[in-house]
Amino acid sequence: MHAPESRSSGSAGARASYDVLVIGGGIIGLVTAWRAAQRGMRVAVADPEPGGGAAQVAAGMLAAVTELHYGEEALLGLNLASAARYPAFAAELAEASGQDVGYRACGALAVALDADDRAHLRELHALQLRHGLDAQWLTGRECRRLEPMLAPGVRGGLRVNGDHQVDPRRLTAALVTACERAGVTLVRRAAARLSAARARASGVVLDDGTEVAAGQVVLAAGSGSGRLAGVPEEVLPPVRPVKGQVLRLRVPAAYAPFLSRTVRAVVRGGHIYLVPRENGELVVGATSEEMGWDTTVTAGGVYELLRDAHELLPGITELPLVETGAGLRPGSPDNAPLMGPTALPGLHLATGHYRNGVLLAPVTGDAMAEVLATGELPGEARAFSPRRFGRPVSPVPQEQPV
Ligand code: GLY
Repeated sequence: MHAPESRSSGSAGARASYDVLVIGGGIIGLVTAWRAAQRGMRVAVADPEPGGGAAQVAAGMLAAVTELHYGEEALLGLNLASAARYPAFAAELAEASGQDVGYRACGALAVALDADDRAHLRELHALQLRHGLDAQWLTGRECRRLEPMLAPGVRGGLRVNGDHQVDPRRLTAALVTACERAGVTLVRRAAARLSAARARASGVVLDDGTEVAAGQVVLAAGSGSGRLAGVPEEVLPPVRPVKGQVLRLRVPAAYAPFLSRTVRAVVRGGHIYLVPRENGELVVGATSEEMGWDTTVTAGGVYELLRDAHELLPGITELPLVETGAGLRPGSPDNAPLMGPTALPGLHLATGHYRNGVLLAPVTGDAMAEVLATGELPGEARAFSPRRFGRPVSPVPQEQPV
């Protein structure tokens, strides 16, 4: 392992060297850095705003069961493994940071508003049962007994007691603190390009020209991971940005509890979910738009979310709307993450988590720390190696930035 030459916090001119350099300080980059530091590695994270990005927008559903999709059965195993680790992960992170991360074991209810929605939910239920998952069919009346604010027209639903939530803003704040306490250096600059020497990744050049050297580099820059300069074309992860617009409302004390668990539905083909926090915040999401790196909040996006939320919960129009935002999910070709070594020695990926970045934080941190320490991904993560996309590798130039 490389001994650090300095513990730069990002000032130009200092050349620092680490065992591991993580590019990207979102949830995935931070959890990777924290877990690697816990295993004795000297770690830095390069990000102009650690803890920013998609985590500031995400609702934080831990929806392994309610977000099950046909064709994503391999991902289901990883999602369930991560969901199972959440209580211990949240407790350990709270202890390490001194901050509560807003983990709430509230369960979820997916409801149907019309016959088409009900047919869709019935199919989802059948798929869940085939996988031995805990999901219970309820009549509309039973749904409303659980959540009295639901519209009278709700035709039925699925109660999933194991899908919980965490507050991604608190989670990232806690991860930043835990990283700092574990000795991770936060380099508050953007990575401009990957550098390589002797045909392996050797660090990055920052946007101020500073070089940071590392024995291993982890590219964990979310939807931006596919466009870092210097990464050979065939190694660049095939991730793309998928925009999600999200609203935050506040439930005044007089209306509490507006909802007691996450409620979701498919309305006119669009997914809507409402995630109630204990502090009175109600997060409403999310659009899914392939718009490149655009994070504009649009009137149309806000309108659609409010229209669909209103059909589900008519009382929502009484609540103060306190915030709107848009984030970018890192979509991958099979909707599953890319974790572990690439064809370029020394360069790992931890990206492409798409809809499940918050959910997959515990299992990703564990998997990345293991592969960084031992060179081997643990069993549950092996199916998610970047090499599954099998692109041909061209030779890496020697002693040159690649
Ligand atoms: N998992 C929720 C979303 O991606 O909107």
